[in-house]
Amino acid sequence: MKRERAIDAAGVSFTYEEGTKALKNVDFWADRGQFVAMLASNGSGKTTLIKVLVGLLKPQEGRVLVGGRELSAIGAKGLYQEVGLVFQNPDDQLFGATVEEDVAFGPRNLGLEEAEVSARVAESLSAVNALELRKRAVHHLSFGEKKRVALAGVLSMHPSTLILDEPTASLDPAGEALMLHLLNRLNREKGMTVILATHSVDMLPLFVDCIFVLNRGEVLRRGPAEEIFCDHELIRQAGLRLPYISHLLYEMKRYDGVPINGLPLTIGEARKRLLELIPEELIASRLETKGQ
Ligand SMILES: Nc1ncnc2c1ncn2[C@@H]1O[C@H](COP(=O)(O)OP(=O)(O)O)[C@@H](O)[C@H]1O
Ligand SMILES: [Mg+2]
Repeated sequence: MKRERAIDAAGVSFTYEEGTKALKNVDFWADRGQFVAMLASNGSGKTTLIKVLVGLLKPQEGRVLVGGRELSAIGAKGLYQEVGLVFQNPDDQLFGATVEEDVAFGPRNLGLEEAEVSARVAESLSAVNALELRKRAVHHLSFGEKKRVALAGVLSMHPSTLILDEPTASLDPAGEALMLHLLNRLNREKGMTVILATHSVDMLPLFVDCIFVLNRGEVLRRGPAEEIFCDHELIRQAGLRLPYISHLLYEMKRYDGVPINGLPLTIGEARKRLLELIPEELIASRLETKGQ
């Protein structure tokens, strides 16, 4: 059975007024409930494509369907409830004095009762592990906290699809892991469709169902992480790199002849493959298991 598409862009071309062709005949889609990444180096058109997907920019060619409907037929209010956009820079998104005022802004604008507004604020802040920030002044938050509060503001509108522009850029390693963990939870537990733009490759294979690789405004390739990262020419052409763990194992295979199966993309997978090559008696955990 064909799955319903949350977002479906076809043949999209966009040229900025001063002449930059930022998107060239782009097809991009996400099925409902999928976790999809736009993977590309800087200046490849990710932000432009995101703006086109949510109707902030109108493409000169092509069309965008959200939940099966033309953007123009949905209207701003309907669109906010269908698709939530988290900007790259949280300062472009946050404008309330306190965290709870900021997160309450959207639901209040929908005309909801105060009790419902309050419930949505609590629920959205909990979803991003930020309930304790509720009374804090927005301008005192750290960058990572601002990112999570901006995400809560979007969640408070109950969108079925989340689009995030570089959600992990400028975060420290713990902040990056937390953000991806939260997005993964929203995707797997709440069934939200998650679309993100990124150029960070190390953690992506843990979460994504599908990757669109963009380069200079064009989609070079679309597929699951295992397919994308085994195409070294594609990765080079797009100005990207392999996840570090894959790079290490690739080099061990190529230069040292270590017979590793496939190309592991995550630490967990790499560990499994390497353990397969090590004699049982050298591995303490296997001895323990045997002795039990
Ligand atoms: N407002 C703008 N006016 C003119 N050109 C722009 C504008 N925004 C982006 N561009 C150009 O469009 C191309 C794609 O940019 P962008 O979508 O921001 O890429 P990415 O998000 O992948 O870094 C780049 O060449 C960039 O310089
Ligand atoms: Mg960008």
